[in-house]
Amino acid sequence: MKLLVTGGAGFIGTNFIRHIRQEHPDWQMTNLDKLTYAGNLENLKEIQDQPGYRFVKGDIADRKIVDALLSGEYFAANSLRPNTRDLRPSIVVNFAAESHVDRSILDASPFIETNVKGTQVLLEGAKKHGVQRFIQVSTDEVYGSIDRGRFTEESTLSPSSPYSASKAAADLLCLAYFKTHHLPVVITRCTNNLGPYQFPEKLIPLAITNALEDKPIPIYGDGLNVRDWIFVDDHCKALDVVIQKGKPGEVYNVGGGNEKTNLDIIRKLLELLNKPQSLMQFVTDRPAHDRRYALDCARISTELGWKPAYSFEKALSATVDWYLKNEPWWRSIKSGEYARYYEEMYLKR
Ligand code: NAD
Ligand code: DAU
Repeated sequence: MKLLVTGGAGFIGTNFIRHIRQEHPDWQMTNLDKLTYAGNLENLKEIQDQPGYRFVKGDIADRKIVDALLSGEYFAANSLRPNTRDLRPSIVVNFAAESHVDRSILDASPFIETNVKGTQVLLEGAKKHGVQRFIQVSTDEVYGSIDRGRFTEESTLSPSSPYSASKAAADLLCLAYFKTHHLPVVITRCTNNLGPYQFPEKLIPLAITNALEDKPIPIYGDGLNVRDWIFVDDHCKALDVVIQKGKPGEVYNVGGGNEKTNLDIIRKLLELLNKPQSLMQFVTDRPAHDRRYALDCARISTELGWKPAYSFEKALSATVDWYLKNEPWWRSIKSGEYARYYEEMYLKR
């Protein structure tokens, strides 16, 4: 297998590349990442020089680089090998995205540029160069909020934030390329991930690292919004199965089966870290804050035989352990440019 992985220096992409190295050491991987604030090559230090893995810094919305990579000419031009045909990726796994809802409320433009235009550029390149499978890593947020019951893959898309609207637009483009051009696209829509290497602007790593620094943890609104949490390893395993067995043109919901309120999570984290519950600080709610996400994941389990392996408790304690053992990783992020963004966001609330 020859994979073009995009956004592989971010949270889920990093875990996915590590998963593939472990499970399929013979698979070739090129990681195309723009290295935005969320991309971090430190995450892949042990892998960077391994044969069969290459990193390329670039933008998925840049037609030239996408075309050169998907034709195989990029590596030939960089004198690595003369035969471009054996360097052509047969599979694209698109993780690259602007992924944080709060940032999309501050400025939606990069979300449209990367999540919509970038996906279209990749689809066009994949069509032109005969890619055999295009995996679009999407999200449960495209369905919007649900008070009772669960969304199936046939539910209407009703996104609430500029982030989720940009992801929904990308999903529709993918399906249109399948219908119009028969491009073998498969879409996965996953629930909230937790695990190692998640950027500390997202709820769980933000809460862990703030608690370790004895800083307040902002809880939006009443803290009773519900998310379904999945350990990132389980998401990576689902993607591995979808690459191998997913049906072209199909959408697969992927969930952990762990519905929790934000308050449940923060209370549990503070207990695990032996920190006072008084660190919780209720702040102004996120605009258009979805109340509850919940997915019906029968399709991926019955048709492809995938099920999550981690309970929420096991996932949370593995995540806490990782942040405890990798303090220099998150401290260097929190002391950099991100510190200014966070101060500004926090003061606004
Ligand atoms: P992330 O923000 O941690 O990482 C995104 C990565 O994409 C970064 O490495 C960044 O540098 C790269 N990137 C951004 N713009 C790019 C561009 N124009 N060209 C190339 N690279 C670019 O995101 P994540 O949490 O790892 O999410 C990965 C994917 O999974 C996203 O598509 C997201 O919508 C989806 N998803 C995330 C979750 C979650 O809980 N985190 C759940 C479901 C789906
Ligand atoms: O559902 C999948 C989605 O999960 C992905 O598509 C997104 O890329 C990912 O960022 C995540 O989106 P959420 O908005 O659910 O994640 P976030 O960690 O930002 O927030 C989780 C919940 O916690 C949400 O209800 C908002 C709340 N929250 C978040 C932050 C950052 C707080 O109460 N306080 C906070 O400081």
